[in-house]
Amino acid sequence: MVIDEKKPEDYQGRPVRFFQLENDEGLKASLMSYGATLVSLYVPDRQGRIGDVVLGFDSLSGYLGPNPYMGATIGRYANRIAGGRFVLDGREYQLAKNDGPNHLHGGIRGFDKVIWQAEPFTQPSGVGVRFSYLSPDGEEGYPGNLSCQVTYLLANNSQLEISYQATVDRPTHLNLTNHSYFNLSAGARNNILDHELQILASAFTPVDKTLIPTGEIKSVAGTPFDFRQPVRIGERINQVDGGYDHNFVLDNKGELALVARVFEPDSGRQLDLLTTEPGLQFYSGNFLDGTIIGKSGKTYGPRSAFSLESQHFPDSPNQPHFPSTVLRPGQVFRSKTIFRFSTR
Ligand code: GLA
Repeated sequence: MVIDEKKPEDYQGRPVRFFQLENDEGLKASLMSYGATLVSLYVPDRQGRIGDVVLGFDSLSGYLGPNPYMGATIGRYANRIAGGRFVLDGREYQLAKNDGPNHLHGGIRGFDKVIWQAEPFTQPSGVGVRFSYLSPDGEEGYPGNLSCQVTYLLANNSQLEISYQATVDRPTHLNLTNHSYFNLSAGARNNILDHELQILASAFTPVDKTLIPTGEIKSVAGTPFDFRQPVRIGERINQVDGGYDHNFVLDNKGELALVARVFEPDSGRQLDLLTTEPGLQFYSGNFLDGTIIGKSGKTYGPRSAFSLESQHFPDSPNQPHFPSTVLRPGQVFRSKTIFRFSTR
């Protein structure tokens, strides 16, 4: 097990820290304190050759340019809030509208664009970094001082675990996720259409044109959203307007459980996703348009990667029948998501 710190880079006069982690099995991850971001993740294929399965950039400057949240921690509210507005305890709050008429991924300067405190650690089960951030009352329009921790653990059982914890001094809404873009071929394939995907979700939340849930909890049966058995991502993607960018209502009942499995047939790499969260946004990289130049000068075109964002449902603050995203003083928010790798 190794944890190494690279030379920090400067961002607006403050240091951004970079960590390189390696577990006992030779899996490697790198993390940075800007956005508490997962920068790279090297896992073996069925021949034992390791390859980087996440998109991103070679240096901090790439992350500061046009960057659709690659590898970042997303908050205070991952996904969309209609009109950027909600009423909490009788008071109305207006947030930034940074996605057409809606609020997306925490606003103009969300948790993906701030510098987190970082504390590397080693423990018998693996190596990791604990990131902390204090989001002040009123930041991006949200109420309450929120103290937030995101802990990455690269464990010695082929798992990257991400644990979230938060407390607040006034009621607020909170929805945290990680926005990694995966391509399990490690760059050998330019799109993810041949990846096989399984999502253990019997329902999903249909959306309007601006990707806000209509409120319906709809059965996946007989729709292109039925991933209860493994299906090629490309199989039915053209039946979905714009491609997949939908929240799945997981069958996990709020318990840490396997909720999704992705398999890439050429490399043999398999990713299992476990989470305590009730929802999972499956995003098929529809907005990647080839204008972004990422790692090693590679351009990221449409569907060159997918995201599986464990989360509460989009627009929950305005949909009282969705699981609540309210966090109140005295409560401790806890959530865990695991990316587990294997080959076959
Ligand atoms: C999420 C959203 C998508 C898009 C990406 C970032 O996955 O659901 O609509 O905003 O983030 O481009």
